[in-house]
Amino acid sequence: MVRLGVNVDHVATVREARGITEPDPVTAALLAELGGADGITVHLREDRRHISERDVRLIKETIKTRLNLELALAPEILEFALEVKPHAVTFVPEKREELTTEGGLDVISYRKKLEPVIKKFQDSGIIVSLFIDPDLDQIETAAEIGAQYIEIHTGRYCDAKNESDINKEFSLIDQACITATNFGLRVNAGHGLNYRNVREIANLPDIEELNIGHSIIGHSIFVGIERAVREMKALLP
Ligand code: PXP
Repeated sequence: MVRLGVNVDHVATVREARGITEPDPVTAALLAELGGADGITVHLREDRRHISERDVRLIKETIKTRLNLELALAPEILEFALEVKPHAVTFVPEKREELTTEGGLDVISYRKKLEPVIKKFQDSGIIVSLFIDPDLDQIETAAEIGAQYIEIHTGRYCDAKNESDINKEFSLIDQACITATNFGLRVNAGHGLNYRNVREIANLPDIEELNIGHSIIGHSIFVGIERAVREMKALLP
C-alpha cells in the first residue's frame, strides 16, 4: 500500500487571501483523514504565506494519523519544529519569490549544515526526509549524512509536455528509487502529482508515500475534501 500524505497548505492560502479565520486547514486535515489520508503534510514557510504556527500545533494535536512538517533550514523554524515534534520533517529549499518549492534541496552544498540538524531531529524521535531532485549524487549524499527518507521531486516529470521528456523524467525517477533503496534510504515522492499522472509514480516498487496538495485541494472545491482524497486514494496501489 502506498500512503497518501495530503498537503493542506492551500486551504490556508485561501484563508490568507482574505486575512480572516476561514477556511481552516485544521478542519481540512480532519476531513482529509475521513477521506482516507494516511497523513497530513504542511509547509511552515519563513514568510508565513499560508500555514501558521497555530495551524501546525492544532493539526498535530487533532489528527489521528501522522504529521509531516516541511521546512527550510531556518533557525527559528527548526526550533519550532523541535518543540512541536511532528511525526516527520521534510527539509525543502525555500526562496521567498517562488510560487511553490521549485527544485530539490541541494544536499551536497548544504551537507555541513544538514548533518548535525538531521541528527538533532532524529535524537528527538522525529523521522527526517530530504526533498531532492532525482539526482544520483544528491541521493548518495543524503544517505551519507544519515537521512532515513528522501522525497523525490516529481515536478519536472509532471511538467514534461511531450512523450520523450515524460519518458526521460520518469526513468530518472525510476533510477533514483533504485539507487536510494540500494543506499538503504526509504523513498517518498511528490510535487505536481494529480489524478492523471499519479499512477505511474505510485506503481514504482519502492515508493512508500506520496505527498499531494494542489490537485487534491483544487478538486475539493468541486467535490469536497473527503471525496477528493478518496478519489486519489483509489488510484494508489
Ligand atoms: N512535497 C513537497 C516537499 C512540497 O514542497 C510540496 C509543495 O508544497 C508537495 C510535495 C506537494 O506539491 P503539490 O502541491 O504540487 O501537490
